Amino acid sequence: MKVLVLGSAAGGGYPSWNCACASCERVRRGAAGSAVRTQSSLALSSDGKRWALINASPDLGQQLREHAVLQPHAGAEPRESPIAAVVLTSAQIDHVAGLLSLREGPPIDLYCTPCVFDDLTTGLTLLPALQHYCGVRWHLLPVAGDATVADFRLEVLPQLRFHAVAIRALAPRYSLHAQDPAIGDHVALFVQDLETGSQLYFAPTLAQVGETELHWMRRADCVIVDGTYWESPEGASGSGHLPQTGRDGMIAALSTLKARRKILVHIHNSNPILDEFSEERREVERHGIEVARDGLEIQL
Ligand code: MLT
Ligand code: MN
Ligand code: ZN
Repeated sequence: MKVLVLGSAAGGGYPSWNCACASCERVRRGAAGSAVRTQSSLALSSDGKRWALINASPDLGQQLREHAVLQPHAGAEPRESPIAAVVLTSAQIDHVAGLLSLREGPPIDLYCTPCVFDDLTTGLTLLPALQHYCGVRWHLLPVAGDATVADFRLEVLPQLRFHAVAIRALAPRYSLHAQDPAIGDHVALFVQDLETGSQLYFAPTLAQVGETELHWMRRADCVIVDGTYWESPEGASGSGHLPQTGRDGMIAALSTLKARRKILVHIHNSNPILDEFSEERREVERHGIEVARDGLEIQL
C-alpha cells in the first residue's frame, strides 16, 4: 500500500492565517528548520493509480495541485480523476470542508459513520448542499452504539481491508450533540494490505490511548497518530487531543510499540516539534518518532 501525507497540520494549518507567534512568523519568512504544512489528510492507494482520500482537508485544492498522481492523466477520459473514494474519520471541519472542492466531479463515494453523516446533514449541511452539485453516495460504516468496529472494503482498492474502530475524542463544536459525544464521532482506521501483509493504523485525533487503541496499534507496521499538542493547552481541559509529553502522553504510548514507523500528524501551529532545531523535536526523534511533513510518502 502507498500512503501519501497530503497535509500534516491541525486545523488552521502552519503558519496559521491568524497567528503572529514566533513559530508562525518563522515559517512565514521561510526560515530554516520549519516547513509550511497544510491541514491534515492522507491519500491511500494499492496500485498508485486509484486513490482514496482519508479526510478532505480545507486545503484539498492546494494539495491536489501539488501531487501529480492525484491529477487527471493525459489520455484518460476527460474529467476523470484518480480520486475514487473519500473515507472520513470524523466530521470535524478540518476533515470535511474539502468535500466542497470535489463538487465539480462525479458523485462522491463517501465512507463514514452514522454520527458523521448526521452531523454533515444537520449541524453542517454539507451533504444536502452537495446533492445540488456532484451528489454523494453514502457507504455506511456501522460504528454506533454497541458496535465499535466495522470491517469494510473499498471497491476500487480491493487489495486493502479496512477496519473503522471507535475512538474517544470530542464531537465537533457545531454538532447537535456536541455536549454528548457518541460512538462513531471519531474512528481510527486500521488498514491491512492483503498482498504484502503490511498494516497501517491511522488516527489523526486521539483523546487517549488505552488498551483498545493499543490492541490495534500493536499490530501495525506503521502508526500515524494525533500529534496536535506537545502539552495540553492551558485552560483547555479536554482538548480532545492526547499531548505528546508527560507520563501518559503519546511519546510514552508509542514507545511501547514495535511498529517500524511511528509518525505524528495533525500538528498544531503552537507545537514546538514543528521546529527541527527544538529540544522537543529532538526528544521525539530520540524515541524513534517522526514528525509528518506534507508530501511524505510511505510504501508499506
Ligand atoms: C480539532 O482537531 O480539535 C478540531 O479540528 C478543532 C476545529 O475543528 O476547529
Ligand atoms: Mn482537527
Ligand atoms: Zn502561531
